[in-house]
Amino acid sequence: MHTIRANTTLAANVHRLVLDAPLVAKKRLPGQFVMVRLGSGHERIPLTIADSDPAAGTITLVIQAVGVSTRALVALKPGEAIRDVAGPLGRATDLIESGHAVCVGGGVGTAVVFPIAQALQRAGVRVTSIIGGRNAELVILAKELKELGEVVICTDDGSLGQKGLVTDGLRQVAAEAVAKGSKIDIAYAVGPVPMMRAVADLTRPMGIHTIVSLNPVMIDGTGMCGGCRVTVGGQTRFACVDGPEFDGHQVDFAEMWSRLGTYKELEKEATATATATAAAACEAHACRLTGATGPA
Ligand code: NAD
Ligand code: FES
Repeated sequence: MHTIRANTTLAANVHRLVLDAPLVAKKRLPGQFVMVRLGSGHERIPLTIADSDPAAGTITLVIQAVGVSTRALVALKPGEAIRDVAGPLGRATDLIESGHAVCVGGGVGTAVVFPIAQALQRAGVRVTSIIGGRNAELVILAKELKELGEVVICTDDGSLGQKGLVTDGLRQVAAEAVAKGSKIDIAYAVGPVPMMRAVADLTRPMGIHTIVSLNPVMIDGTGMCGGCRVTVGGQTRFACVDGPEFDGHQVDFAEMWSRLGTYKELEKEATATATATAAAACEAHACRLTGATGPA
C-alpha cells in the first residue's frame, strides 16, 4: 500500500499528490512514469513522476481529474492509500549537458516538463520554460520553474503573463535568441496533442531538435498489450517501453489523435454512471437532511 502524505490543489481539477513509494523514489529518472491502480476494480493509469524525495521515500504525482479513476485518486486524503504503484517505467529523458533548452508545458503537461527542466538545470543547462493555460487559474508550477531559470507564461485570455498560446511564447523566445546571436539547442514539449504538434511544426523549419512526451492509452505499461502503439518515423513504437518521449518531428500526431478518441464515449458513459451512483448513494444517506452538497 502507498500512503498519501499530502494532497494539494494546483488548479481546478488538478492535484499534487505526495505518496510513499520508496523504491520508485530511489530509482526513478526524469521522464519516467508509474502505473497506478487505486484498488481492485479500478483501472490502471499511467502517471509521470513529477518529483521524488529518496530520503523521505516519496514520489510526487500531478493528476488531472478527467475520468472516474482520476477523480477517485484526487479525492484521496492524507493517510489513505493507493494499492498499486508500479515503476519506474519507460525510458528516461535524453538530456543535453550544456547549451540552452526550452521546456514547453501546455496546461497539466507542465507537470511532465518540470522534472526535465529540473534535471537540465542541475546539469548546468540554461533553461527557459514556456508554460500556458486557458486562464491564470490553470497555469501550474510557475513558482517552481522560476527557481530553475526564466519563465514565460502565456494564457489564452491574457489573465496572466502574455495573451496567447505557448507557441506564441516559443516564437518570441526563438526570435530573441536569434536577435542576440545565440540559439536554442533543444525543445522539450509536453501537453495536449495539438499543442505538441504545433510546437513540432514551429521548430522544424528552425532546425531545433524537439522532444515530445506522448500519452496514448496504456494498459499494462510493459510492452505486452500494444495499446500504446504510436508511429514514429514510419515505424510502430510502444510509448511505454520505447518512450514516452520521442522526436517530435517524426511523430504521426494525426494517427495518435484519432486513436486517443477511441474510448472517449466509453469514458463519458463511465463518468455519468459513477456520478449517478454517487448521487443515489448520497440521496440514500443523510445529505438530503443535512443540506450537504452532492457530487459535482
Ligand atoms: P489545454 O487544452 O487547456 O491547453 C493548455 C495550453 O496548451 C493552452 O493554454 C495553450 O497555451 C497550449 N495549447 C493548447 N492547444 C494548442 C495548440 N493547438 N497550439 C498551440 N498551443 C496550444 O490543456 P489541459 O486541459 O491542461 O491539458 C490537458 C491535455 O494535456 C490532455 O489532453 C492530456 O491528455 C494532455 N496531457 C499530456 C501529457 C503528456 O504526457 N503528453 C501529460 C499530461 C496531460
Ligand atoms: Fe501495453 Fe504499452 S501499455 S504495450
